[in-house]
Amino acid sequence: MRPLVILGSARADGETRRAMDIAFPAGSADLLVLPDFIIGGYDYQHRNTADAFSSIAEAMTSVDKIVFTTPVYWYAMSAPLKFFFDRLTDLTENLKSQGKALAGREVWMIATGTEHALPEGFEVPFRRTFEYFAMTYCGAAYLYTGTDEKTARVDRRNTRRVRQKRYRRPLNTR
Ligand SMILES: Cc1cc2nc3c(=O)[nH]c(=O)nc-3n(C[C@H](O)[C@H](O)[C@H](O)COP(=O)(O)O)c2cc1C
Repeated sequence: MRPLVILGSARADGETRRAMDIAFPAGSADLLVLPDFIIGGYDYQHRNTADAFSSIAEAMTSVDKIVFTTPVYWYAMSAPLKFFFDRLTDLTENLKSQGKALAGREVWMIATGTEHALPEGFEVPFRRTFEYFAMTYCGAAYLYTGTDEKTARVDRRNTRRVRQKRYRRPLNTR
């Protein structure tokens, strides 16, 4: 079964897409571009149940491997991905059965940025959220997208390792 890659960049064809292509060459994963969908922010009254969130949640429960990809924007995950993460709350309320169905699924995170390492704590919301849903967090890769070729080369290798499932150490310790 092909992994589902959820692209959280503000553009579909930028550096984060490139990171995804390094980790998952053409045809080896299914891609879902978050900004292509209309997804409202979390609503305490669940007035946005008709938007695209539940269909994406459904797609997540139909695969055994999920990869979240995001650029670092202002030291944090991108806004499209944060909107999506806030909506994961629905999976503990009105969409509880889908939330329970996430248990045991393997999940990865790939980030891109122009600083040499991920900001401290960047991985925490990912790791803790995946733990909350009893998913198996397999680790993260960081693709440096600045101009230092040596760093970029090391990161390309680490990003390729996501697919090979060999990347299992914290990232922000260069
Ligand atoms: C709004 C914005 C904020 C950014 N903030 C950071 C940052 O805090 N740290 C960093 O390393 N790079 C930062 N960058 C650079 C991007 O993370 C980097 O260029 C990334 O690879 C872009 O991916 P994309 O083409 O998918 O958007 C920022 C870029 C933008 C547009």
